[in-house]
Amino acid sequence: MSKATDSRTMIEMIKVTKRYPPNVMALDDISVSIASGEMFFLIGRSGAGKTTLLKLLCNMERPSNGLIEIAGMNIHQVTGNKLAKLRQKVGVAYQDFRLLTDRTVAENIAISMEVSYKKPELIRNRVRSLLAQLQLEDKHDMLTGDLSRGEQQRIALARAVANSPSLILVDEPTGNLDATSTAQVMELLSRSHNAGATIVIATHDESIYRHSSHRIMEINNGRISSLTKGDGQGWPNAAGAMDGGSGDAI
Ligand SMILES: Nc1ncnc2c1ncn2[C@@H]1O[C@H](COP(=O)(O)OP(=O)(O)OP(=O)(O)O)[C@@H](O)[C@H]1O
Ligand SMILES: [Mg+2]
Repeated sequence: MSKATDSRTMIEMIKVTKRYPPNVMALDDISVSIASGEMFFLIGRSGAGKTTLLKLLCNMERPSNGLIEIAGMNIHQVTGNKLAKLRQKVGVAYQDFRLLTDRTVAENIAISMEVSYKKPELIRNRVRSLLAQLQLEDKHDMLTGDLSRGEQQRIALARAVANSPSLILVDEPTGNLDATSTAQVMELLSRSHNAGATIVIATHDESIYRHSSHRIMEINNGRISSLTKGDGQGWPNAAGAMDGGSGDAI
């Protein structure tokens, strides 16, 4: 455990900047601390830097300056076994999905669990349960390349949460979805959150954060422009009723 974090902190970013060549300042002096078990929304206009921030958190990009710690580890310095273990603790649903389009839905969802050597029966049950929660049971054996964008988006989410990671990073999870599917996606994320996962969601979809009780960080041109909370009324669930919103750890 480093000096910068304690055991209740999942993410610590200190004075982080990210410059892309030749001269794009995608993130500029970002400092934020996200608690273990927190659900945290990241909002801001297109090009604000949301995806860049998530890419830094999952080690797809390196910061130009500053420090990033996940669970007390500087993710851009850990190597070998430690890095492999850290990777298993993080589930990511990418904005562009990154599914293996020539593999089936079930194979895509199972991947993270296979990498961590879960038993085949457990994997099969988890895949079926996730597909049932998303009402996509009938897609189990389809190639993901043949699915609609909204279906692909939900499979990407199912893959991200399948192995019950302690940190889930989700980039625009509801961009292609109708209200019912949006509610199902939020229920799935709420379940992971209630089970103790830390969840960071980048989104343009006001319907999923406005009534939550969680923190909302707005980025504007790579800088933090506000840090607020939703009004706590909860979001509509798939049946149309309001979810009371689960308490978070802040
Ligand atoms: N690989 C890259 N090379 C150069 N510039 C990049 C690269 N990736 C992102 N950018 C730029 O960095 C800025 C932030 O992009 P980012 O994708 O993080 O925004 P975003 O908030 O996720 O936007 P959106 O809501 O459209 O997904 C933009 O100006 C973008 O053009
Ligand atoms: Mg983005």
